[in-house]
Amino acid sequence: MPELKNAKKQLIADLIRVEGMTAEDIYPLIAVPADRKMGDYAFPCFRLAKVLRKAPAQIAEDLKADVLSRPHPFQSVEAVNGYLNFKFDPKAGAAEVIARIVAQKNRYGAFDLGEGRTVTIDYSSVNIAKPFHIGHLSSTVIGGALYRIFKKMGFSVVGINHLGDWGTQFGKLIVAYRNWGDDADLAARGIYALNDLYVRYHREAEADPALDDLARAAFKSIEDNDPEALKLFEMFKDITLRAVRKVYDRLDITFDSYNGEAFYNDKMEPVLRELEQKGLLVLSDGAKVVDLKDYGMPPCLLVRSDGATLYATRDLAAAFYRKNTYDFYKNLYVVAYQQNLHFRQLFKVLELMGMPWAKDCVHVAFGMVSLEEGTMSTRKGKVVWLNDVLNKAVEKSLAIITEKNSALPDKERVAEQVGVGAVVFFALSNNRIKDIVFGYDKVLNFDGETGPYLQYTNARCVSILKRKEDYLDFLSASLTEAEIEDLAGEETAALSAILENMPAVLADVVEKYEPSLLSRYLIDVAQAFNRFYIANRIFDQGVCSRARLGMTYAVHTVLQEGLRLLGIGAPEEM
Ligand code: ARG
Repeated sequence: MPELKNAKKQLIADLIRVEGMTAEDIYPLIAVPADRKMGDYAFPCFRLAKVLRKAPAQIAEDLKADVLSRPHPFQSVEAVNGYLNFKFDPKAGAAEVIARIVAQKNRYGAFDLGEGRTVTIDYSSVNIAKPFHIGHLSSTVIGGALYRIFKKMGFSVVGINHLGDWGTQFGKLIVAYRNWGDDADLAARGIYALNDLYVRYHREAEADPALDDLARAAFKSIEDNDPEALKLFEMFKDITLRAVRKVYDRLDITFDSYNGEAFYNDKMEPVLRELEQKGLLVLSDGAKVVDLKDYGMPPCLLVRSDGATLYATRDLAAAFYRKNTYDFYKNLYVVAYQQNLHFRQLFKVLELMGMPWAKDCVHVAFGMVSLEEGTMSTRKGKVVWLNDVLNKAVEKSLAIITEKNSALPDKERVAEQVGVGAVVFFALSNNRIKDIVFGYDKVLNFDGETGPYLQYTNARCVSILKRKEDYLDFLSASLTEAEIEDLAGEETAALSAILENMPAVLADVVEKYEPSLLSRYLIDVAQAFNRFYIANRIFDQGVCSRARLGMTYAVHTVLQEGLRLLGIGAPEEM
């Protein structure tokens, strides 16, 4: 992957002239001094002593004179003990980042790390006829955020919803539908009615185990392409997808492929044959497994003794399909850590098969979401539907907004963005491997480290900007030296240093598959802006400081784009 260059280090590298060395040679030598009082960056001259046949201290002195003889952006350049120390003028740094953001607008932060390489991301991957519950939230929003961020960083991205659309649960549903199904109820209540049928099946099957035989037979009839069974199967799938698509719309989630488990039914055979040819498939009590003892794992079961294939078999076929179809650079699976073993086994089998790309498959694991006590009537075993959580968050947002700003136009739309955004931000705000506890008051706290806090700070920026007509025109010319004086002060320096970091933060998200780095970063931006805003007047007796308004614009741009990348709306007013 190309390296993300630090703009300031690059500036220094371009200005230091040493015979026989290019800026490329110089760049990696520039370091950040341990003692920041020495400067922002330092260039050590020791290694040059031999070639130049001069003492390091002398080299530093000579280079200093040379750099200062030409135009430069430094507040100071000092030669100290064989080092050349550089200090940037923080005001100039702030002006520079403002100019960059004004020029690049929402493209700011992008950096072509991908160079067109393809990343496949398997996320959300819901199960047909099972509820889309709060547990699917993380996979869906982490995957969605990675999808947008990888795109921004120049990758070509394929979002895959690996539907759980195969397995014995379909036999159970057919039996339930035949016994107790009510078409009018299904039409009216959709997935809720389907779920009730599923729950009822389990209740009745406890008393009447014969139902399970019927269910097995029904599932077999799907496998045998019985037209009536297939019709029901399609109906269940349709009802489920209609419900989950509503949630996806609210979360701004899209997929390029809905190829789920059923899609791989006819694609497992060749893979199993290859495993057999390679001598990797062994019989164990009639079942076919890949032995993984040597790697400290239980065997990977691929064909049961009754001939049935498994989740792992389909995932194996899917990995080959993805490599052949998309020639991925990375193949990501955004799935709960409960499936750690499954993915370790899967990747190991690919490796044993001699697939060099096994190392490019990554399990992007995340922790569990649970609900604060009393958040909902969570009678044991009762599922909490994600859509209901979103509805309740929106309802509560509407109440808060109405209280804060009763004259706000289009309150319902803003409440939707705030309520949904609060839930999404919550799921993205912690290191993904952590287990997290959801609570409405916590995620909706406008003063906390929350989605609404970011949205509110952004709306504040917008309202400041709107006080100046045609503010973009007003900001388009570069700042004069006199105007740059408005950027003095430590709050401004701190804010500008943070804004400058966005490209590095996004590169880090891509490298670690960790969207929470962006979430935390946006909180830092908002907090630094609020400190800047307290310390600085943007309008003084009706006169607008172009430099400070530019800073406000920069913050607005970074917050709005950052929220978009996380999948969160940015209302202009709230
Ligand atoms: N449907 C599965 C579940 O809900 C997740 C599938 C993840 N993707 C995969 N290729 N295994 O547990």
